[in-house]
Amino acid sequence: MRRLLCILSSLLLVAALAVAAGAQDMGAKVSSACGACHALGRTCAKLGGNQAYWLSTVQRMYDNGAQMAGSEVGPMAAYLAGLAPGKAPFCK
Ligand code: HEC
Repeated sequence: MRRLLCILSSLLLVAALAVAAGAQDMGAKVSSACGACHALGRTCAKLGGNQAYWLSTVQRMYDNGAQMAGSEVGPMAAYLAGLAPGKAPFCK
């Protein structure tokens, strides 16, 4: 039983690390894909916007020609919607 708990908690840790790494990758992706046409400050200024705002905005930027995969629109919108204003790694 202890062994099982041990395995379960390591699995949870791995999952948490994977989520953190994914968020880090997404931050890097925003820096590279969203700073090409306008300053990242434009994105930073809108943090605090909800999921619907970011979904339509990221989709529009993708249509504008942002260098990212179409499948990244949803995850990036979720990532941006989850960021508190002024706290994003790419806004520093
Ligand atoms: C191909 C050029 C281009 C790229 C790449 C680009 N944008 Fe934009 N962005 C624009 C233009 C043009 C506007 C102004 C017109 C508009 O809002 O569609 C704009 C406006 C914005 C605005 C302000 C919208 C508002 O509600 O006032 C935000 C926020 C934004 N971009 C975020 C992003 C994000 C996030 C990315 C990366 C996914 C990105 N942009 C990539 C061209 C680009």
